[in-house]
Amino acid sequence: MNKKSIKDVAVTGKRCLVRVDFNVPMKDGKITDETRINGALPTIKYLIDNGAKVILCSHKGKPHNVLTEGFGLTKKEKKAVEALPVEQQAEAKAEYLKKAIKDKEKYSLRPVATRLSELLGKEVVFATDVVGESADAAVAGLKDGDVCLLENTRFMAGEEKRDEALCKKLASYCDIYVNDAFGTAHRSHATTAAIAEYGFVDTAVCGFLIEKELAVMADALENPVRPFVAVLGGAKVADKLKVISNLLEKCDTLIIGGGMAYTFLKAKGFEVGASLVDDEQIDYCNQMMAKAKELGKKLLLPVDTVIAKSFPNPIDAEIEVSECGAEAIPADMMGLDIGSKTAELYANEVKGAKTVIWNGPMGVFENPTLAKGTIAVAKALAEAEGTTIIGGGDSAAAVTTLGFADKMTHISTGGGASLELFEGKKLPGIECLNNK
Ligand code: 3PG
Repeated sequence: MNKKSIKDVAVTGKRCLVRVDFNVPMKDGKITDETRINGALPTIKYLIDNGAKVILCSHKGKPHNVLTEGFGLTKKEKKAVEALPVEQQAEAKAEYLKKAIKDKEKYSLRPVATRLSELLGKEVVFATDVVGESADAAVAGLKDGDVCLLENTRFMAGEEKRDEALCKKLASYCDIYVNDAFGTAHRSHATTAAIAEYGFVDTAVCGFLIEKELAVMADALENPVRPFVAVLGGAKVADKLKVISNLLEKCDTLIIGGGMAYTFLKAKGFEVGASLVDDEQIDYCNQMMAKAKELGKKLLLPVDTVIAKSFPNPIDAEIEVSECGAEAIPADMMGLDIGSKTAELYANEVKGAKTVIWNGPMGVFENPTLAKGTIAVAKALAEAEGTTIIGGGDSAAAVTTLGFADKMTHISTGGGASLELFEGKKLPGIECLNNK
């Protein structure tokens, strides 16, 4: 990579503002998956061991209705209040505010500070704001090797708006800006890119997680050991337009599964019954099939499918299913997973590959009856001898839940970010860093 990393600069005694991705899933205030915290540890430990003053910052979720600035009602809530008779407005407003305060707790990074402190075996000072009094005091109190974590950066409206004043204030906290938030590197926000782009920090470098993610994924895309197989799933073709096109150029075989396969099958002229279909993308699917032919690439579609009368509700509800050929799904049935012949076909293709990248489940994997295709592909990746890369998101969750995580070469901490890499896009969180 041509970007500088923390190893390329002197960090001892320096205040380092480290943008991490601590956007971790939580239930009842407990972190349910620590992968992203663990991913950031090598950088944090390196900075501690080398006597830097470490100021961590991250977003968590999308807390747009609980912003500190103008903290209060969303536009929709305001409208709803205003539509009420005047005498009821104050009470309705108070109810919304109560909810907002509760929501704000849900988005707080405090539980992450607690857990991080346990993982590091040292205190992590938690600032209850991003650039307010609490953050000022936390930063001012740091000694070499100390760590603090600022509150959720998205509590500031300026984070996503790339606000200059916010960037300037954050820059005043540090001598070096470090980006190690690979999962958020595709976002062009104040703490992910603008702070460096505006030139408010002289030194902007990446941490070890970004370095590792790029080394594995960019290398696989640019110099893959062949055969190179890409497996794409997920619900919608529209979400993966550029990915499909770009990967077709890079890989030898492109495997399509998940909900988006049915739009391809319809484009081939097959009966897809009540399956999820994106009619606007039929032409696109035809273009991609033609492109594969032209480039001499294999584009594999399901040959059979698991069908049911309706989508499971709730998603993990018991469901009666059968299998049929992919060319003839009955009019009143919908496809919800790849069939057993397809699973075998895809698994064999994966096992014979020297490089595999995977993004998106093969079916409704949250439902045990509809997870078999996803499990078969995950198992094939686990058994494959080549390099296996999981592009974050649902496929990472599937591989981890199934217990195959340690069998993969690399599981990305960024679903959206790795998809953009697979699209061939430049990531703003990386572009903004100093060149070597
Ligand atoms: C993610 O979970 O994909 C990253 O943390 C980015 O989050 P965002 O989609 O809310 O920007």
